[in-house]
Amino acid sequence: MANPPSILLLNGPNLNMLGTREPQIYGSETLADVETICRAEADRLGLALDFRQSNHEGELVTWIQQARDRQDAIILNAGAYTHTSVAIMDALSAVDLPVIEVHLSNIFRREPFRHHSYVSMVARGVICGLGSHGYILALQAASRLIGTMPRP
Ligand code: DQA
Repeated sequence: MANPPSILLLNGPNLNMLGTREPQIYGSETLADVETICRAEADRLGLALDFRQSNHEGELVTWIQQARDRQDAIILNAGAYTHTSVAIMDALSAVDLPVIEVHLSNIFRREPFRHHSYVSMVARGVICGLGSHGYILALQAASRLIGTMPRP
């Protein structure tokens, strides 16, 4: 059987602290919990999932570049780099894959500096404010964009 379509799901800085980090904003699930539900959904959708986290902007840029030849779509919660990183935006433009931006919190209900996203400028779609369920919705959207079908 041909290789299943593959998704790169990237988490940026401080998302390794989920569960203990400002739970009133980000909830009580850990990043490992989020990975578990994402793996179950990716499996249901017939997608291979590469789930990663880094606190380093350059590492995120490198992983995005590598996705060009390895993956079919990128789901990205860039954390605070969302609001600052031209380098991540440029890397996303360079690889020319469909990008879905995710945030656990509703960034538009928060401080004004969170209202601007460099990632949104190159994303096909944006999901925010729905907690970890947003990751599931992003996987479903990615599956649709790359034309895979869920298991019956
Ligand atoms: C976040 C929102 C960002 O503004 C923040 O810097 C994060 C997490 C979210 O998932 O809600 O680190 O991306």
